[in-house]
Amino acid sequence: MSGHGDPLPMTALRGGPLRGVAEVPGDKSISHRALLLGALSVGETRITGLLEGQDVLDTARAMRAFGAEVTHGGPGEWAVNGVGVGGFAEPEDVIDCGNSGTGVRLIMGAMATSPITATFTGDASLRKRPMGRVTDPLALFGAASHGRAGGRLPMTVVGAAEPVPVRYAVPVASAQVKSAVLLAGLNAPGQTVVIEGAATRDHTERMLAGFGAEITAEDSAEGRVITLTGQPELGPQRIAVPCDPSSAAFPVCAALIVEGSDILVPGIGLNPTRAGLFTTLQEMGADLTFENRREEGGEPVADLRTRFSPAMKGIEVPPERAPTMIDEYPILSVVAAFAEGRTAMRGVKELRVKESDRIDAMARGLEACGVTVEEDEDTLIVHGLGPGGVPGGATCATHLDHRIAMSFLCAGMAAKKPVGIDDAAPISTSFPVFEPLMEALGARFSRGESA
Ligand code: S3P
Repeated sequence: MSGHGDPLPMTALRGGPLRGVAEVPGDKSISHRALLLGALSVGETRITGLLEGQDVLDTARAMRAFGAEVTHGGPGEWAVNGVGVGGFAEPEDVIDCGNSGTGVRLIMGAMATSPITATFTGDASLRKRPMGRVTDPLALFGAASHGRAGGRLPMTVVGAAEPVPVRYAVPVASAQVKSAVLLAGLNAPGQTVVIEGAATRDHTERMLAGFGAEITAEDSAEGRVITLTGQPELGPQRIAVPCDPSSAAFPVCAALIVEGSDILVPGIGLNPTRAGLFTTLQEMGADLTFENRREEGGEPVADLRTRFSPAMKGIEVPPERAPTMIDEYPILSVVAAFAEGRTAMRGVKELRVKESDRIDAMARGLEACGVTVEEDEDTLIVHGLGPGGVPGGATCATHLDHRIAMSFLCAGMAAKKPVGIDDAAPISTSFPVFEPLMEALGARFSRGESA
């Protein structure tokens, strides 16, 4: 829901090694999509391992507002009785997507080809983020939208009464835009085609196929061409959500930089469109072992063992890898600060329009912790100080951004002096058990800005 309560300052102190098993919660991207596609199918979809973070809970509430029945069983267990493609009812009130760009953009897509009107809002972070990247292609289907200057929320979307299918080349590497167009294409007659220059996470395509839609993807000179046949009847599914690699990144990266650590993350999602961080860490010299590789719920998974890696070196992270690790640059920049030499992260300008301007947020916080950083519009360069070499001793601003908050707490676990954050509350959007999970591994936190 939009707005947070009082800020929750928190500090991480250097402690002993991190050891044990980290049961990381379900994947945020897959959780949103499971609720949405469940709501657009006819019959009861059963989900296990759903992420019960605020972002996903906000999407569950929104699906109820559009007419689906969404019920909570035990922990992570949810059932969705859907209304079918084209069956969304008009919500009676404003849809509040809280902090979630994925939630609002995918829901806008899903309702844009039904003859209903909905008004969307979110918290102070989401109200700053651009929605034009989604409403531009939705207009091609026949939907209208009216928002604040710059295409900002609150925004009203008037769905197309007689939608037409579209062919759309996505101008930015964005799975949210691609997914919004595909979800809109569900209720347009004929074939909707989306072309993406760089492959982004493909959970929507995989799940649409699982729910029975006719969808194909092929690589061409233009890029990846995805073709969806509209107005299918989607059948209910059983979905087991794998652990979120973007959340697992925090205990994994903390273990790499905290002396003596050795942890295991079971069942981590390793979809190749999400796994760029692990390739990067291995190039830096990280000690990662993938055990028991298998497939769960249509997604590749493995158990990941991570050990303290004092010999990590800075590298060039190539721009073409950015879509496969877009949410992991904040925590990578912390690892880079504890590696020897310079790590250059290029082609990352999309970070400027995430929950916060993540290049700016990481650069300012790392500098406050005594790390030398260079940045330009599309690049972040961190000059590493080696294992245990980061001075710390600062309080970092998190700008309502869960990943910035968790990144600086991880820095504090290995820095010479404690590292504080001004607000840990947003962590609950994606990783509500971060604090107890990290403490169980051996991390030391205190409530308040300085120890
Ligand atoms: C997401 C796509 C990415 C990512 C976000 C989740 C998704 O955003 O940053 O956390 O679930 O589709 P963009 O599509 O804006 O790159």
